[in-house]
Amino acid sequence: MWNPAALCCRTAASARSPLLPRSHTLNRVFGREYDALCQQPAQGVQGEGLGRTPGVLPCRSVSSKAKYRQYAQTYPVLDGRILSVYRHVFEENLRNSEAVVKRYSELLEMVRKGGGDKAIWRHTQRNKKMFVRERLKLLLDHESFLELSPLAGLNMPYGDVPAAGCLTGIGRICGVWCVFMANDATVKGGTIYPIGVKKQLRAQEIAMQNRLVAVYLVDSGGAFLPLQAELFPDKSHGGRVFYNEAIMSAMRIPQVAVVCGSCVAGGAYVPTMAEETVIIDKIGTLFLAGPPLVKAATGEYVSPEDLGGARLHSHVSGCSDHFASSEKEAYECIRNVISTLNYDPLPEEAVEHDSPLYSPDELLGLAPRDYRCTLPVKLILSRLLDGSRFQEFKANYGMTLVTGFGHVEGHLVGIVANNGELSHDASLKGSHFVQLCSQRSIPILFFQNTAPQTAEPTSTSQCGRSFSPNFLFLWPNARVALVDSRHLSTVPQAGDSDHGGEEAELKELKEKLEEESSAFYSSARLWDDGIILPQNTRKVIADCLKITEQQKYQVVSPCQHPVMRM
Ligand code: COA
Repeated sequence: MWNPAALCCRTAASARSPLLPRSHTLNRVFGREYDALCQQPAQGVQGEGLGRTPGVLPCRSVSSKAKYRQYAQTYPVLDGRILSVYRHVFEENLRNSEAVVKRYSELLEMVRKGGGDKAIWRHTQRNKKMFVRERLKLLLDHESFLELSPLAGLNMPYGDVPAAGCLTGIGRICGVWCVFMANDATVKGGTIYPIGVKKQLRAQEIAMQNRLVAVYLVDSGGAFLPLQAELFPDKSHGGRVFYNEAIMSAMRIPQVAVVCGSCVAGGAYVPTMAEETVIIDKIGTLFLAGPPLVKAATGEYVSPEDLGGARLHSHVSGCSDHFASSEKEAYECIRNVISTLNYDPLPEEAVEHDSPLYSPDELLGLAPRDYRCTLPVKLILSRLLDGSRFQEFKANYGMTLVTGFGHVEGHLVGIVANNGELSHDASLKGSHFVQLCSQRSIPILFFQNTAPQTAEPTSTSQCGRSFSPNFLFLWPNARVALVDSRHLSTVPQAGDSDHGGEEAELKELKEKLEEESSAFYSSARLWDDGIILPQNTRKVIADCLKITEQQKYQVVSPCQHPVMRM
C-alpha cells in the first residue's frame, strides 16, 4: 500500500514580532500588490517590475516520471515578476541569504573533512582504509546523492561531532534508491555519540516510511564511552537501532552490511543483524570485546584477526556471508547482493517537463530575512513548479494560505504554502485541501513560513517533525522558534526596581533564544533532515518524490517474521 508523501520545506518559519500588528505585516501589504498585479493582463504592467528573469528561457527537459498529464500544460501560469515595490525587501533578503549561505558553505566544508587531516591520515595511511566519502563513490551508481543532515552534531554540549560521526543519505545502487548509514572512523574511531544514534534512527525511519533498502557500512568502536548514560539504556537509544533492524526485516525491507573496519560491542550487532553481510580481509573485525578486554579478563593475548577477523567470520563462525579481499571487491559484492533483492527500481520512462519561467537563483531574495520581509509565496512557487504553472484551489478564500496543484519535474504535487498568518479560514481551506490530496493519493508539499505566538505554535503543528513528513528540509535563513527573539525588548518595564540586573538577564535570554532559533542549531540536533540551498530546492524535491514513489513498484507479500541467522 503506497501512502502519498508529505514533504516539508521551511522557507522561514520565524516568529512574528509581538510589537507588530497583524494588519501591518509587509506580507499583507505586498499580498495586496501581488493580487492587483495578477488581475492585470501581463502586457499591461510591462516595465513596472523585473519581468521574466532575463536569460531564463522556457525549456523542456525529459524526466523518468511514468505519467505526466498533458493537461498540466493548461494550468494557469503564475506571474513571478518581482515588482519594483518589492525591490528593497528583495535586496535585504538577498544580503541576509548571502551571509547565511556563506556560513552554511563553511560548515559543510568543515564537516566534509570528517575528524580532520590528522585523523584522515591515520585512517588511510596507517590503517589502510578508505575515507568514508570515497567508499560511497564505489558503492553508489552516481557520485551525487541526497545527504541527510550533514550538519548534525555541530556545536553540541559535548563538542563538535562532524556529521554526527556517521554519514547518512539516499542514493541509487543498481538503479534502486537505498538509504545508507556509513560510520566515519576518522571521528573518534567511528564511535557512536547520542546524536549519532539519533541520526541512524532517523535514517532507519526514512527506510521504513519509504520502503527503501538499507545499507550499513560499519566501521565503529561502538559506544562513545564517556557518554554511555546518554546513548544506551533508554528506549530511543542504541538498542533501538538493532530492534529496528529486526522490525525492518519483518517488514521485508532488505538490509545489507559491509564490515569495513572495527565493529566492536554495539558496532558488532549492526552487521550481524543485517540480512546479508560482507567482511573485508585485514580491515574488518567483528567482536563484542576487543583484544585488550580479552587480555584483562583471561590474561591471554589474541590478535584482532584471530579474535574476529574476516577469515574467522567467513570460515568458522559464519557471522559473515561474503569474504572480500579488498574494499573495492566488497562494494562490488554488495552491489551484486542488491541486484538479487528482487527489488524493482523506478521505471525509467522518458517524459517531457518544462522548467520554471523564473530563475531559481532569485529564491535567495525571496527567502525572508525575517517574517516581516516575507513576499507573496506565489513568487517562490513560480520558481519551483514546471512551467511556473499552478492550478490554485480556493484562490479567493483564506488567502493567507495558498493551496493548489502543480508539477515538479513531471510529478504531480499538492501545495500548501503559508502566505501570511494562519487564519481560521485559511486553516479550513488547508484541511479541505489536504483531504483532497489524500483522497487522490497525491503527495503534499508544505512550504512553511508562519509567525507562531507562544499560545499557538502553528509552524510545528502544520507539518513539523511530530507529524512525520517523509522529509523535512530548511533553507539556511529559516528560524525555528516560538517567538522572534530579535524583536524582544531588553528594556525592563516601568516600576521594576532592579533595572540593571533584569536588563542583563533579558539580554542573556534574548541571545540564547536567538542562537537556538537558527537553522544551524535546528539541523545540528536533527530537528530536520538538513539545510538545503533555495536554488537547489526543486532538484531536492524532485529526488524526494522519486524516492517516495519507488515503493509503488514493490510487490510486498505479507510476512511476519524477520530473516534469522542460524
Ligand atoms: N569511546 C571513546 N573514545 C574512543 C573509543 C570509545 N569506545 N574508542 C576509540 N576512542 C577514541 C580514542 O581515544 C581516540 O581518541 P583521540 O583521537 O582523541 O586520541 C580515537 O577514538 C581514535 O582511536 P584510535 O584507537 O587511535 O584509532 P584506531 O583507528 O587505531 O582504532 C578502534 C579505533 C575503535 C578500533 C579502537 O580505538 C578501539 O578498539 N576502541 C575501543 C572500542 C571498545 O572497546 N568499545 C567498547 C564500546 S561499548
